[in-house]
Amino acid sequence: MKELKLFNSIINLTWIGVVFMILILGTTMFTNFTYKEETKDVKIIDVVKSPINKNLAIGKALFKSKCAACHHKNMKDDLTGPALGGVTERWSTYPKEDLYNWIRNSSRLIDKKHPKALEIWEEWNYSPMSSFVELSDKEIEAILEYVEM
Ligand code: HEC
Repeated sequence: MKELKLFNSIINLTWIGVVFMILILGTTMFTNFTYKEETKDVKIIDVVKSPINKNLAIGKALFKSKCAACHHKNMKDDLTGPALGGVTERWSTYPKEDLYNWIRNSSRLIDKKHPKALEIWEEWNYSPMSSFVELSDKEIEAILEYVEM
């Protein structure tokens, strides 16, 4: 009889132990879960606040209003003008001001007989690109960042 009582209390203790473990595990998992959610939120806020992301938004807006009429928004297909994807790389043998100047006023660069300007001008059958003299370096930078995203 004494042994049976002892056996019963051991079983009971084991059960209490198991329930305890489940409780602890459950709480840890729940805490981990909420912790992850929090870090995810922080990241989203960081991205929205980040200046890089703001630049992209400006670039996108400028591209849509000024360039998308002639340059495909998927950056891969030609339209009235060539696909712009990879354009920074294609101009990388020249100072970046050259590409900026092309975007501001392509015909001026063609008149100056800039080799790259002449090359695309011929390749695209002398179809003129509009001028955007109003664009600042920062704005062009933002457009190119969006183009190469
Ligand atoms: C009226 C149509 C038109 C608009 C609007 C236009 N482009 Fe173009 N773009 C062209 C054409 C056509 C070419 C091909 C070269 C040529 O014939 O002048 C070109 C070429 C280019 C090139 C050189 C591409 C290469 O592969 O080297 C860049 C860079 C460029 N455009 C950027 C822009 C940007 C940025 C905007 C907006 C701010 C813009 N373009 C708006 C028509 C346009």
